[in-house]
Amino acid sequence: MKRYFLVSLVFLATAGFAAAQIQAPSTDVLGAHLNYGRGCAACHAPHSGAYGNGNAKTADPTSGNVALWGEDVGSLYGKTITSGGGGDIEVLPTSMAATTPDVSGLLTCLSCHDGNYATGAMMKNKVYETLPSTYGTANAIPTLLGNDGTTVGNYLNDHPVGLQAVMSCGGQYDWDCTISGTGSVQMTGAKSSLFVTNYGFFVRPGAYNSQPVVMCTTCHNQHLMNVVSVTNGKNTGLPSGPYATMFFLRGPYNPASGTAASNQTAQFCRQCHGGESNEMNGGTAVTTF
Ligand code: HEC
Ligand code: HEC
Ligand code: HEC
Ligand code: HEC
Repeated sequence: MKRYFLVSLVFLATAGFAAAQIQAPSTDVLGAHLNYGRGCAACHAPHSGAYGNGNAKTADPTSGNVALWGEDVGSLYGKTITSGGGGDIEVLPTSMAATTPDVSGLLTCLSCHDGNYATGAMMKNKVYETLPSTYGTANAIPTLLGNDGTTVGNYLNDHPVGLQAVMSCGGQYDWDCTISGTGSVQMTGAKSSLFVTNYGFFVRPGAYNSQPVVMCTTCHNQHLMNVVSVTNGKNTGLPSGPYATMFFLRGPYNPASGTAASNQTAQFCRQCHGGESNEMNGGTAVTTF
């Protein structure tokens, strides 16, 4: 009898916690990527790549060969972007046939989100989601990374991405994680595994030269704007269910939660920046939604 009582208490506590942040999305999950009505086909042309999608014929015979890509990426081939204040130099792939992770994870995004080399798409250069008031007064945050209102072609003010944006483990700034022989991050140290219990490891690094590297798709999932389907298990200790996110981010990230002490957005960054975490600094705080 006593044991039964305890079990139900634990169950109730978990259910109460879960109810507070598990939220089923009420609008279409593709969100901004409904592409003003064009839908999946704005990105994936069922036939004939970029030509099949109504884009002008360019010297880009490989456009549709990866993920049936339907945007014209020809103008980006071989171009250099220097991202992050530290200046990671990324030379973009020279065709869709290159086998590096920056083809599907970066080149594809820039075909619409560049605005410098690639200007063809129907972008409004302004975020689609309604931002909470904590963002300040200007709601017209730019979406063209290479044409954001500063100098055209300036990527220095964007988070490092590309084959040189390498993730590492150990030392003062990083997690006590390890990197496997195939370049995947193992969050199995005492602190990193505690963080996985408290939040999770939702990001998807690419692998290049046996090292984990940061692509746009490492942080963003272009198919789901407002929801992350969390499954309790080896990648997270959070209760399973749909969690709110914004900006297509791969982990729970809800700056509109309305909870002043919510740290979920900071937790998102801490997946890779262990030095800035509670766990690596002896803190006991968990994720507050
Ligand atoms: C904003 C552009 C965009 C839209 C819109 C989009 N996708 Fe994708 N999709 C991508 C990108 C980029 C990849 C490759 C991602 C990667 O490899 O990490 C991808 C990968 C895929 C894949 C895996 C195929 C492969 O060869 O890798 C499938 C299946 C898919 N998308 C289906 C869909 C469907 C169905 C829709 C509409 C409901 C859709 N996508 C809408 C960008 C988009
Ligand atoms: C997927 C892992 C990952 C995530 C998530 C991540 N970062 Fe980073 N970040 C990196 C890596 C790797 C570097 C260093 C890249 C390099 O210099 O080669 C970096 C560098 C930085 C830098 C230094 C940039 C410079 O140019 O000096 C800042 C600041 C930063 N990140 C902030 C953030 C913030 C804020 C977030 C959350 C919005 C975040 N990061 C999320 C991996 C990540
Ligand atoms: C076919 C064009 C297209 C491609 C390709 C594309 N996007 Fe978008 N994206 C859009 C449009 C349209 C918007 C709405 C904002 C606008 O019009 O400027 C948007 C908005 C976004 C936003 C902001 C959403 C918000 O909350 O307002 C993010 C984040 C984003 N895209 C990420 C990506 C990533 C990552 C990729 C690559 C995997 C990608 N996009 C590829 C068309 C595209
Ligand atoms: C390290 C993680 C990370 C990487 C890598 C990353 N983003 Fe983002 N991105 C974010 C976060 C976090 C936000 C939401 C920022 C906020 O809360 O305002 C965001 C927001 C955006 C937005 C909305 C406009 C804005 O500036 O807030 C767009 C568009 C976007 N990202 C596109 C991209 C593209 C394209 C790439 C690859 C070139 C990329 N992102 C790489 C983390 C990342």
